[in-house]
Amino acid sequence: MRTEILKMFARRDGYISGEKISEALHISRAAVWKHINALKEDGCEIEAQTNKGYRLVRMPDLLKPEYIALYLADEPVKIVWLDSVDSTNTKAKELARETTADSFVVVTENQTGGKGRMGREWYSAPGEAVQMTIVVRPDIAPAKAPAFNMAAALGVCGAVQDLYGIEAGIKWPNDVVYQGKKLCGILTEMSADMDRVEYLACGIGVNANQIAFPGELKDRAVSLRMILGKQVERAPLSAALIGEVNKKLKAHLDGEGWLQQYKEHSMILEQEITVLNGEETVTGVCAGFGENGELLLHTDGKEVRFVAGEVSVRGMKSYV
Ligand code: BTN
Repeated sequence: MRTEILKMFARRDGYISGEKISEALHISRAAVWKHINALKEDGCEIEAQTNKGYRLVRMPDLLKPEYIALYLADEPVKIVWLDSVDSTNTKAKELARETTADSFVVVTENQTGGKGRMGREWYSAPGEAVQMTIVVRPDIAPAKAPAFNMAAALGVCGAVQDLYGIEAGIKWPNDVVYQGKKLCGILTEMSADMDRVEYLACGIGVNANQIAFPGELKDRAVSLRMILGKQVERAPLSAALIGEVNKKLKAHLDGEGWLQQYKEHSMILEQEITVLNGEETVTGVCAGFGENGELLLHTDGKEVRFVAGEVSVRGMKSYV
C-alpha cells in the first residue's frame, strides 16, 4: 500500500488530498494517515496543508521493499528487508530452508558479518553499499551452478550500464571491475545433492556511496559515487540489480547466449593470468570459458580447465 501511495505522489507534482488517496486505494482516511505517518517515520519528507492534502518533498535512501518496488518493472518480487543482519547470504539460506518460495531477495542496510569469497570478510559501513542475496531454485545439476554465478555478474554489469552508462568488466568468475578496481563482489552459495540443486543464494555487494576505502582497499576498490562524482540512490539501483540479475539467470537457463556476452565483458580473455586454486598456482593465457562456467587456460602447450579459483592479472594488483 505504501508503494501505491508513493506512486501516486510520483505521478503528481503538487498536493494530493487524503480523500483522493483513500478513494483511489479503497482505504479509510485513517489508514491513509497511518501510512503517511509510517512513511514520515522512515524519513520521507511529506508536507501537509489544510484543504490541499499531502506533498512528497523527499524520499529517504532506504532499501525497504516499498521503496525498491517503486522501480521494479516486471512481476512482483518478494523482498525481505532487515535493518541489520550478520550476512544476507546466511539469512537467505535460512529462509530458503524454511520456506518453499521459488525466488526471493534478502536486502539490508547493514551487515555485521558480511562474507566474501574464499572465506574472506566483506565489510561496508551502514547505508553505503547495496548488499543483497537473491535466492532462486533452478532445476539444474550442481555442475551447472558456477555458470549461474557468472551470469549474475553480467546482470550487475547490465544494471550499472543501464542506470549510469558505466562500462564495467568482469574478472572471472564474478568480480565486477571498473578501470582495474573492484566495484562489486558476488558470493554464490548453494544447497544441492549430487543430482540436483535445491537452491542458489547469490549474494551481491555493490560499492555504491563510499567516498574512500581504507588501507589496502584504497587502490583496489571503487564505488559508483567515486566514478560518477555524485551520490547514487540505492533503491533504483537495487531494483535494477534484481531485474537484471534475474533476467540473466533466466537467459542462462533458457540457453540464450549469455556466454558470448560474458566474453565481451571479460577483462581476462586472452590475457596472461595466474590462477590460484587451493595449493596450485598456474600461469598461462585465458583462452575462454566453458558452458558450465569453467575457465580455460593455455599453459605449457596444453589447455587446463578450472571450475573454481582466484585469478590475478599480470601487471595488476589483485582485487579485494
Ligand atoms: C567477494 O568478492 O569476495 C564476494 C563478496 C560478496 C559480498 C556480498 S554482500 C551481500 C552478500 N552477503 C554476504 O555476506 N556476502 C554477499
